Amino acid sequence: MLKKVSLLLIVALLAVTALAACKPAAVATEAPVATEAPVATEAPAATEAPLVITDTELNVLCTPQEEWCQGMKQEFEALYGITVNYVRMSSGEALARIEAEKDAPTFDLWWGGPIDSFVSAKAKGLLETYESPNFVNLRDPELMKDVDNQWVGVYVGSLGFATNTDWLAAHPDAKAPTSWDDLLKPEFTGQVMVAHPSSSGTSYTALATIIQIRGEEAGWEYIKQYAGQMASFTKSGAAPAKFVCQGEAAVAIVFSHDTVNEIENNQCPLELSFPAEGTGYEIGGMAILKGAKNIQAAQLWYDWAISPEGQSLGPIYHAYQAPTINGVELSHPELLDVNLIDYDFIWAGENKTAFVDKFTNEIANAENLKQ
Ligand code: F6P
Repeated sequence: MLKKVSLLLIVALLAVTALAACKPAAVATEAPVATEAPVATEAPAATEAPLVITDTELNVLCTPQEEWCQGMKQEFEALYGITVNYVRMSSGEALARIEAEKDAPTFDLWWGGPIDSFVSAKAKGLLETYESPNFVNLRDPELMKDVDNQWVGVYVGSLGFATNTDWLAAHPDAKAPTSWDDLLKPEFTGQVMVAHPSSSGTSYTALATIIQIRGEEAGWEYIKQYAGQMASFTKSGAAPAKFVCQGEAAVAIVFSHDTVNEIENNQCPLELSFPAEGTGYEIGGMAILKGAKNIQAAQLWYDWAISPEGQSLGPIYHAYQAPTINGVELSHPELLDVNLIDYDFIWAGENKTAFVDKFTNEIANAENLKQ
């Protein structure tokens, strides 16, 4: 018996060595094939073949900030020896691109951007199912993972206001807004900046937050007035914080971690505040795209992005979103220690196309967005 097991072990190890030679070195050391060789008495080594990664590249559609996209690319390449090609696109643009390319997708994986767009993409049949072994790491699987395993949450961030403190100093009667109604004050007319919800997930989060707080009728009435307060609409969600930093308007509506980045790393004169009656928040999503060509590499990234190693990288690249998994410290816990509404991501995702069309057709078109 002992002899038979040893023989099988040797055969298994030889097979593993031969297979390992085909894959990038870093991946070979990651895959636990060799340590699992004794199992070969039950399951021959050939059944372990899926652990051999033959993909040499991965095409990522990346929606968070450019610096973090670039950092994740480099980290993944160093770890696994797989080349990552990425393009940074705002959520709405990304969704439109994936839909347009559904029969011949350029991208394998979509990483980042509020899950509202992932819910919408799932409804359009654009996502692949994948059950990651790292789902066990999630802090709140019910909230942070699709019931059919078509998307998963990779970070969390709250929506806030960023007010230019030089502008406040020049307008002593004005205060940084602490409610949605404050944005409608006369001193802020032509002084507020937000992205357009057709291109930006940040802006759509703001729109869906207002409708959730006020209901459809009062919500849309408010949104009409709020749109009238804008200096201009930008394409990307974080851009208003940069323009307000430069003094182009007084207040930006952006995710709070983007304001923290501008204050801490770009020395911007900004004050962060939140609407006291409640603010919305995002769960940044991730999904493998239907028709992905590099499916193994995509699964490798997917598992890594919900591992403690992957999720502890954000602050190194000035990304201060909160992790979605256990075992990683929050860089800025105070950003979630605010009055968050019970944001309904599924409702927001399922209504995204209709709400964005209504906004674009009836309130403000998406032409000439500021970049
Ligand atoms: O800048 C980073 C970030 O705020 C992410 O937290 C968010 O998911 C993404 O930008 C949204 O980008 P956009 O609003 O351009 O779609």
